[in-house]
Amino acid sequence: MKRILVVGAGGQIGSELVDHLRNIYGGSNVVAADLDEKKLANYKIDGPIEILDALDGNLFHQIVKNYKIDTIYNLVALLSATGEKNPTLAWKINMGALENSLEIARQENCAVFTPSSIGAFGPNTPADNTPQDTVMQPTTIYGVCKVAAELLSNYYFYRFGVDTRSVRFPGIISYVTPPGGGTTDYAVEIFYEAIKHKRYTCYLKRGTFLDMMYMPDALDACVQLMEADPTKLVHRNAFNVTAMSFDPEMLADEIRKHIPEFTMDYNIDPVKQKIADSWPNSLDDSCARAEWGWNPKYNIAAMTMDMLEKIQEKYDNGLIS
Ligand code: SER
Repeated sequence: MKRILVVGAGGQIGSELVDHLRNIYGGSNVVAADLDEKKLANYKIDGPIEILDALDGNLFHQIVKNYKIDTIYNLVALLSATGEKNPTLAWKINMGALENSLEIARQENCAVFTPSSIGAFGPNTPADNTPQDTVMQPTTIYGVCKVAAELLSNYYFYRFGVDTRSVRFPGIISYVTPPGGGTTDYAVEIFYEAIKHKRYTCYLKRGTFLDMMYMPDALDACVQLMEADPTKLVHRNAFNVTAMSFDPEMLADEIRKHIPEFTMDYNIDPVKQKIADSWPNSLDDSCARAEWGWNPKYNIAAMTMDMLEKIQEKYDNGLIS
């Protein structure tokens, strides 16, 4: 029986992963913890909630013991663009939450999932069909934290036998929770603007290709990897995963199939552009496919159709204006 703690449960992934896990394992077996109490109020399925600063190791440990947790999803992180505004804070939070997760997992015999990212790669990485095992050398503090997290998680596995597993997520697209401070956020914002104003000003240049994934596939990736047969895992921290790769023009064209009058212009954000240029154009995720059966369901067409439908419903029902 799984007893799961999701730390950072109010963030971009956590807000949807908690209900997804509660649906599978039962509400009472999935504890949602976040610093911000308000963010713990929106789950559809009831279950325990805890207010937790992941840097508070004592309270974190106590919660793991109290609920007899066996799996920690450590989703605490400042994203790439926010991280560049305050690198010392990003290091402190991203690494502090990881260190506590790994140490507590070691002492309490828990498995740990900590998402890595395409941000773990850098300008020296082969940009097309980026291999699973290749040069990393990121140039953002977010990426530096992600590479360190991959290495430290592998170390905890080899040295202490902690069952650490991870994926390198691309930009995640969802109609539920807006991302905050990421380089890939345009691929979410564009849908809200397309429906409301029929136009969008993109902060990344045309021709900027990045990997992306629709949230339902991202949630499946978390569960599938944590449920995978450990004897089949050659890699652990972290697997390349992707579902689609596009540039802003391709996404705009896809949106125009549904909203023909949609227009897009550009106003480049130099910080985000530089970050995006340092990341791969498209990942090779064949190891994830071979070792634990990764097989995403949504391509750009299916994702776009669903995003437009669901965001239109949010406007129609007055949930957003
Ligand atoms: N979506 C993240 C970001 O843009 C990438 O992992 O920071």
